Amino acid sequence: MTLQHEAFDTATLVPGYHEPVLPEGEPDAATIAASEARTRHWSGAGNQRIKYGSDLHKQMMCRMFAETFNPYRPSVLKWPTLDDAALHRITSLPIWDIAVQTEGKARLRMAAYARTIADPEIRNALAQNAWEENRHKQVLSKMVQHYQIPLVPEPPYEYPQDPEWAYLVTGYSECIDSFFAFGLFKVAHDSGLFPPELIDTFEPVMQEECRHILLFANWVAWHRAKLNLFQRIAFEWKVFRVWCFLGMERMDLAKSLDADGNEQAQDNNFTVNGAQSVTEQDLSVAQLMQWCLSENDRRFAGYDQRLLRPTTMPFMVKCALPVLKFFEKRKQRK
Ligand SMILES: [Fe+2]
Ligand SMILES: [Fe+2]
Repeated sequence: MTLQHEAFDTATLVPGYHEPVLPEGEPDAATIAASEARTRHWSGAGNQRIKYGSDLHKQMMCRMFAETFNPYRPSVLKWPTLDDAALHRITSLPIWDIAVQTEGKARLRMAAYARTIADPEIRNALAQNAWEENRHKQVLSKMVQHYQIPLVPEPPYEYPQDPEWAYLVTGYSECIDSFFAFGLFKVAHDSGLFPPELIDTFEPVMQEECRHILLFANWVAWHRAKLNLFQRIAFEWKVFRVWCFLGMERMDLAKSLDADGNEQAQDNNFTVNGAQSVTEQDLSVAQLMQWCLSENDRRFAGYDQRLLRPTTMPFMVKCALPVLKFFEKRKQRK
C-alpha cells in the first residue's frame, strides 16, 4: 500500500484512536508557559519500584505520554522575519528534505505498528506518537512554505511490510538523531545566529522527541518482558539487524529515491558533522559531544526517574569522549 503524504490520518489507520482536540486561537504567554512546564515534568504516583513489563510500568509510560502532551497548533506558530544572513543560513542547511521525509516515514511506521497492537493503552500511546510525528511534519511544512525553502518532491510513503521492523528502525533512529539534535540545538541557541523566536518555535518539537524516545525505551523494555524465550531470541536478532541497518544508513550507504525516481544523497550525518553550520565558534567534536550529553540529561531530568531512558548513544559517546579528547589535544600540540 502506498500513501500519498497529504492523505495521512492516524485515526483512520489505528482503530480506537481519537486525535486530540487542540485549543482554538493563539495561546497567551501564561498558557504557553504552563504547557511547556507540563510537557517537561512528570512523576507517577507513589515511589515504589516498578517491575519492567508489569501493568504498573505500562500505565506509567502511557500516562507520562498522555499527560505531557503539548497542545500547540502548527497553524498559529510564529515565523519571525529573518535578515538576509539568517535567511541564507536557514535555507542552506542541508537538512530540510531529510527532516520532512523522516517525519513522513515516522508517522506512517508508528501508526502501522500501533494498529497491530492488541493492548489498547499501548496502541493509543503509539498512535498518539504517530499523530505527533505528523504534527512535526506540519510544522516543517509551514516553515518551508514561509521561508520558501526549496524541497525535492516527496516520495510516496510505502506502508511497511513488517510494521515491527519499521517501528524499531524509527524508534532507534530517533534515539540516535535526537541525542545529537539536542546538542546541536543548544549550540544553535547559544550561537546567537538564529532569532530567539525561531528557536522558541522549535523548542516544543525538540522536547517532544525527548518524550518519544522515553516512550520508546520503555516500550522496548515492556515488550521484551512479555516475550517467551524463543520470541525473545528472535526479537534480539531483529534489534541487532536494526542497529546494523542504521549503522549502514549513517555511513551514508543508504540513498533514497525522490518522487521522480532520482537518487537523492541524504545527509544522514548532519547531526554529527553539521555543527559548524549553526555556530561561528570553532567547535570541536568533543565539545559538541559534551553538549549532547548534558542536554540529553537536562531534557530527561524532569521525568519520573523510574522510567527507563535510552542509554546506547550516551554510553557510546561517554566511551568515545576520552579518545576524542586525546586526539584533539594531540592535534592542538602539533
Ligand atoms: Fe518527529
Ligand atoms: Fe519522534
